[in-house]
Amino acid sequence: MEITPELRRAVADAGQEHVLRFFDQLDESGQRRLLDQLSALDFKELETLIAEYVLRRPRIEIPPDLGPAPYFPLHPADSVQGVYYQRARARGEELLRAGAVSCLTVAGGQGTRLGFDGPKGTYPIGPVTDRSLFAYFAGGIRRAGEKYGAPITWYIMTSLLNRAATEEFFRQHDFFGLDPHRVFFFTQGTMPAIGYDGRLLLAAPDSLSLSPDGHGGTLLALRKSGALDRMFDEGVSILSYFQVDNPLVPVVDPLFIGLHDLERSEMSAIMLAKTGPFEKLGNFCVSEGRVQIIEYSDLPPELAEKRNPDGSLAFIAGSPAIHLLSRDFIAHLTAGGSLKLPWHRADKKIPYINDRGEKVTPAEPNGVKLESFIFDALPLAGRVMVLEGDRKSVFAPTKNATGVDSAESCRTMLVERNARWLEAAGVEVPRTADGQADVKIEIAPEAVLDSDDARAYAAGHAVTLPRGGEVVLD
Ligand code: UTP
Repeated sequence: MEITPELRRAVADAGQEHVLRFFDQLDESGQRRLLDQLSALDFKELETLIAEYVLRRPRIEIPPDLGPAPYFPLHPADSVQGVYYQRARARGEELLRAGAVSCLTVAGGQGTRLGFDGPKGTYPIGPVTDRSLFAYFAGGIRRAGEKYGAPITWYIMTSLLNRAATEEFFRQHDFFGLDPHRVFFFTQGTMPAIGYDGRLLLAAPDSLSLSPDGHGGTLLALRKSGALDRMFDEGVSILSYFQVDNPLVPVVDPLFIGLHDLERSEMSAIMLAKTGPFEKLGNFCVSEGRVQIIEYSDLPPELAEKRNPDGSLAFIAGSPAIHLLSRDFIAHLTAGGSLKLPWHRADKKIPYINDRGEKVTPAEPNGVKLESFIFDALPLAGRVMVLEGDRKSVFAPTKNATGVDSAESCRTMLVERNARWLEAAGVEVPRTADGQADVKIEIAPEAVLDSDDARAYAAGHAVTLPRGGEVVLD
């Protein structure tokens, strides 16, 4: 197989000839694989990225006028706002009944911290059964479709690495009772990993070390995959965006959707009151009238610790990565078939093939992966709406196997949320002396979507919760 002179020149001009070191020893399919990967790269752009993000550390400029972003509080501040929230909730429900909302789950990440072999969405997270993360979302989407009388199309972004396994999991589980035609998988882009010396790393003689390009890749992938066209065809104007590791998230939230619409927002976000100045959540900020998220590691300590006169944190708003995106905003941003969001550098231990063809598994970080983040689209939106969420009802991230933000803490939060729903519905929940639910409760999301559903469920079933026991309500 021949390498075109143009490609050879581009590779050489960028100082990356080592990626062709094994080319002549490869069989035809190996050669084709490597050539396909190389042809997909823009070597000029890559050179700039390497100079800016790898050979030196990018400096995050903090704008001098940076302030906290305004948001709608969890509970309306006064009766006027109370009436507005009621109107918004009704508007959200109207949009759901009209079938104007689809769901979008980003599931292309590698889930390295969880250390689980398989796509993260297949992880068993049920407090009692092995119900998977995907099953939680699927159940919620199914129930919301029934509740509002309009089936919801579910867009799932995977990566090249986990697409096949993800689709297979859905087939094995009969799409969790969803209409398979309403589940739309699409694949995000990849970025090559780069060693600290600025050279592209090879994962094998016939392959670059490629990894998903971050959830910022979602927007362009929506266009390239035909998902955006489908939204136009189906008359869907809003996408409810959430991450694959948060089974507590309401898949659709009428108040959030209604406020997004009434505020004519292009991109909206849920914010949570941070538990402390340095909690590891992105911070909602505003500069020159544009909302943006500054990562926790980039917010200067003097701003992170700044207090209001009443003692509360000035930069209180943290991001749980729950968004609404207007279809027309996505269409506008990606109109030219490209979208440049800033890159973020992550230093990683990246296994690679050295010049002698030996596999090296480094003990220390040896290179950089570049990712773009969806929240960097916020400052590109003409209008942004931020709504405060109730942490214990919307955010239980499963990042690690144990400890903080782990499968364990997530299961506890699911049980506690279920306990609160049932208590509000008049069911007695046994609790320990320190107030924790003393029974493991799992509720099938396809049976109960929200507290109203829980009330109806409790009215129609004899629910008893034995102390120290396990109960599955479905
Ligand atoms: P995380 O930042 O938690 O990354 O992703 P991760 O890859 O899942 O986990 P670690 O860092 O390797 O442990 C947040 C969300 O964004 C998705 C993930 O699937 C998760 O839902 N994501 C992340 C993508 O869809 N694509 C990406 O390239 C990165």
